[in-house]
Amino acid sequence: MNVSGWVVGFVLLVSWLWAPLLLADTAALYQQYCAECHHPDRLGAIGPALIPQNLHRLRKKQAIEVISHGRPATQMAPFADRLSPAQIAALADYIYTPLARMPVWGMKEMRANHRILHPPGSLPARPTFKADMDNLFVVVELGDHHFTLLDGDTFTPIGRFPTRFAVHGGPKWAEGGRFVYFLSRDGWVSKFDVWNLTWVAEIRAGINARNLAVSDDGRWVMVANYLPHDLVLLDARDLSPARIIDAKGEQGTSSRVSAVYAAPPRHSFIAALKDTPEVWEIRYADGHGRPLARDKMPLRRLRLKGVLDDFFLTQDYRTILGSTRGGGAQVIDLDSGRDIARLDLPGLPHLSSAITWARNGTRVLATPNIRKPEIAIIDTATWKVIKRIPTPGPGFFMRSHENTPYAWSDVFFGPHRDLMLVIDKQALKIVKTLRPAPGKTSAHVEFTRDGRYALVSIWDMDGALVVYDAKTLKEVKRIPMKKPSGKYNVHNKLTRSEGTSH
Ligand code: HEC
Repeated sequence: MNVSGWVVGFVLLVSWLWAPLLLADTAALYQQYCAECHHPDRLGAIGPALIPQNLHRLRKKQAIEVISHGRPATQMAPFADRLSPAQIAALADYIYTPLARMPVWGMKEMRANHRILHPPGSLPARPTFKADMDNLFVVVELGDHHFTLLDGDTFTPIGRFPTRFAVHGGPKWAEGGRFVYFLSRDGWVSKFDVWNLTWVAEIRAGINARNLAVSDDGRWVMVANYLPHDLVLLDARDLSPARIIDAKGEQGTSSRVSAVYAAPPRHSFIAALKDTPEVWEIRYADGHGRPLARDKMPLRRLRLKGVLDDFFLTQDYRTILGSTRGGGAQVIDLDSGRDIARLDLPGLPHLSSAITWARNGTRVLATPNIRKPEIAIIDTATWKVIKRIPTPGPGFFMRSHENTPYAWSDVFFGPHRDLMLVIDKQALKIVKTLRPAPGKTSAHVEFTRDGRYALVSIWDMDGALVVYDAKTLKEVKRIPMKKPSGKYNVHNKLTRSEGTSH
C-alpha cells in the first residue's frame, strides 16, 4: 500500500471510530433540546413525531430550515443561536433515521392519551346556530392546522377551529351530520360536535396513521395504522379504545395497514394490508343488522395475487378495485374473494379517488393516475378501458355529482399544477381548462349538496377556496384560506354520492 492508501485508510478508521460517538452526541443533543416536546423516543408530544414515516412530506433541507429558524407563531423555536450548523444537520439526519424497534402503542398508551371533553349526552341535541344543516362543508386547512366549517348555501364560514398537527385521510361525517371524526398523521383521532361547535373527545390511536372509517350504525370508528402495524377499534361515543387487531398476514408477516373503509350494506369494515397480499373484512353486525360485540366481530381474509396499494369499492360494495405495485389493477369480487378481472392501467392509478357515473346504459368509472398524465375511463360491465384522456400532468383527485354533466380533475403533479380540468361525462372529453390561481396548485373539488357549485382548493399558504358555478364554470366567490386541502360536504358524504370518495 502506498502512502496515500495509508492516509485514506487512517481517515476511514478514524471516521468509523467517530461515527457512533457522533451519533451518541446527537442523541444527547436531541434529549437535551428536543425530547421534551417531540417525545424521548421521537414519537411526538406537544410537537409532531420526528420519525421518517411521519416526516415523509418534509424534505431534509426543510427540516434543517425549521430547526434553524423555527416556525413562526408556533412553539417550534429557532435553534440557530444555540446549535452549530453541523449539530443542526446531525439532528436532521438523526430524525430521519428509522426507529430501532417498533414503537409500543397498546391499550395502556391509548388510555393515557385519551381525553373526554364533553361526555356523551352532556351537550344540547340540537344545532346551536342557523344554517342548512344538510349543506355544510368541513374544509381542512393544513397551512396552520385548522378547519373551517362552511355554510354551503351562502359560502360564509360558520367557524374556524384548531386541529391536531397534519390532519389527513379525510374527516368523516356521522350521525346525520352532528359529528365529524378527524385523524392526524401522528394518529390522533378527534371528534367534533357540529351542532355545538366544539371538540368532544380525542385519543391517540397510533404513531403513524393512514385513515379512519365510521360504521354505518355510528357505533364504531376504525383506524388504519402504519405504526404500529394494526387496526384500532374505538367506541364512537367517547373514542374509548375497544380493541386492537394486530395486522399479521396468514403467514405471520407483520404488515402496515394501507386503508380502511366502511361498507354499509355489508355492515363491515374493509381494510387492505400493505406488506402482505390480503384484504380483510371485519363485520360489526350480523346478517340481520344486529350489532356484534367488539370481541365477537369475525375477521375474514381475502387472499390476493398482489399487494394492494390503494383501493376503490363499487357503489354496491360487491367489488373492490385495487392498484398493485408495478402497475395494473385487480378487480376482486368481495363475496367469493375471487380475482374477476385485471385492469389495463399502467402507472399508478389513484383508485381511492375514482368516481362512477351512468353513461350509455352502463356505469363508467374514471380514475386519475399519480404517475401518468391520463385519466382512464373504464366500463364497469366489462372492466375494459374504453377511453384514455391525455392530461397536462398526473392528477390526484377527481370529483363529480349526480346533478352535473361534468367531472373535474386536478393536475396535481408537474409544471401544470395550477390547472383544473373539466370533463364532459358523456363525450369523455376535456371541455374546459381552468386556471384559478396561476402558479399555485389547485386541487380537490367538492360539490354543494345540489351539485350547483364546485369548490376548488388553492393549495398554498396564501391560498383560497374558489367557488365555481358548476354549469357556467364562472367563479362566484373566493374565500382566503391557509393551504386548504380537502373539503367534505355532509350530504354528499352521508348519502354516498357516487361523485365523491368515502
Ligand atoms: C417547545 C417545544 C418544542 C421544542 C423544544 C422543539 N420543537 Fe420542534 N416542533 C414543535 C412544534 C409545536 C412543532 C409544529 C410546528 C407547526 O405547527 O408547524 C414542531 C415542528 C418541528 C419540525 C417540523 C415537523 C414537520 O413535520 O413539519 C421539526 C423538523 C422539528 N420540530 C424539529 C425539532 C428539533 C430537532 C428540536 C430540537 C433541536 C425541536 N424540534 C425542538 C415544538 C418543539
